[in-house]
Amino acid sequence: MFILNANEPEELAVYLRQQQWLQEDETIVSLSKPGEGNMNCVLRVETETRSFIVKQSRDYVEKYPQVAAPAERAITEGAFYNKIATSKKVQDAMPVLMGTDVVNNLIALEDLGKTNDYAVLYGLDQKISEGELLELVVYLNGLHTDFEKTVTDEELSNKAMRALNYEHVFEYPFKEDNGFNLDVVQEGLQALAMPFKQNKELKEKISELGTLYLSNGKYLLHGDFYPGSWLKTDAGIKIIDPEFCFYGMREFDLGVFIAHLYLTQQDASTVAFIKEHYKSFDDLNFTILNGFIGTEIMRRLIGLAQLPLKMDLNTKVALLAFAQKLITE
Ligand SMILES: Nc1ncnc2c1ncn2[C@@H]1O[C@H](COP(=O)(O)OP(=O)(O)OP(=O)(O)O)[C@@H](O)[C@H]1O
Ligand SMILES: [Mg+2]
Repeated sequence: MFILNANEPEELAVYLRQQQWLQEDETIVSLSKPGEGNMNCVLRVETETRSFIVKQSRDYVEKYPQVAAPAERAITEGAFYNKIATSKKVQDAMPVLMGTDVVNNLIALEDLGKTNDYAVLYGLDQKISEGELLELVVYLNGLHTDFEKTVTDEELSNKAMRALNYEHVFEYPFKEDNGFNLDVVQEGLQALAMPFKQNKELKEKISELGTLYLSNGKYLLHGDFYPGSWLKTDAGIKIIDPEFCFYGMREFDLGVFIAHLYLTQQDASTVAFIKEHYKSFDDLNFTILNGFIGTEIMRRLIGLAQLPLKMDLNTKVALLAFAQKLITE
C-alpha cells in the first residue's frame, strides 16, 4: 500500500514513475498543500516544468483520524471526473483527471493554479457578482442536463458517502444530546439551538428530506455544491471535489447552493437570478427545494461542519427561524 506523505517526495517520485504519471527524467522540486481540506490527503506536485494535484482517501478523515470514512471515495471522485469528461461544458469547468489508482485510492488531477476558493464569502463582506453566479448556474445546468438517466440504477450511487453525509446533514445537528457543545463555536449558541432540536414537526420534515436524499434519482449531482468547492481561477470559476456525487434529485444541489447564498448574506436578487437562469426551475418541487435549503442552513449553523462564518448570534437565530419556515411551510 502506498501512503501519500508530504514529507516523502523521494518515495512519491518512485510511486509516480510506477504509475507513469512522472517521466523517468522528471524530478519533484516541490511538494506542498494546495489549500485547506479536511477529508483527504491532497498535495501539489511541482516538477521543473509542470505541476499537478494528487489526492488520496483513507478509511478515516484526514484531519480527524479517529473518524471513520469510506476508503474508496477518491475512486468515486475519479469515476465522476471520467463520466463528465464527455461533456465539454462541464469538463471545462472542472480539472482534468490525469489518472486513477484503484489499489491505493488515489487520483491525479490537473492543477488549476495557486488560487483561492470562495470561502472568503463567509467573512460576510463580499458580494458574488452576476457573472460569477451565471458561471455556477451554467455548470449545474450542464451537469443536470447532460447526464440525465431515463431509468434509475446504481451507477455512482456512492452509498457509503451518502450515509456519512446523511448523518451530518439530517441527523446529528438535530439530536438534543449529540455531545457537541455549540458554545465552543459561539457562547450562547447551544441554548439558541435547543428549541430547533426539540421541534417535533421540524424534525419530522427533516427526516423525510433525509429519506429523499438517500433515494436514487435521474440526475447526476455534484453533491457538495458550496463555496468551498468553487475555485477562483484566471479562466473563471472551476468546480472541484465531487467526492459526495450521486444520482439524485436536482433540488439537492440547488438547495445547498442557495443555502450558502443566504448564509453569506448575498442580496435577495441572487436567488431570483438563479431561479431565472436555472434551466428547468419550474419543473422542480419547491417544497423539497425549500426543505433542502433550510436543512443546509440549519446544519451549517448548529451541526458539526461549521464554516468560518463571521455572524453574530442574533443574526444566526433569525436565519435559523427563516430556515425552519422554509422546511415546515
Ligand atoms: N485541481 C486543483 N487545482 C488547484 N488546487 C486544488 C485542486 N484540487 C484541490 N485544490 C486545493 O486543495 C484544497 C483541498 O482539495 P479538496 O477540496 O479536493 O480536498 P478535500 O480533502 O476533499 O477537502 P474537504 O475536506 O473540504 O472535502 C482545495 O480547497 C483547493 O484549495
Ligand atoms: Mg472533499
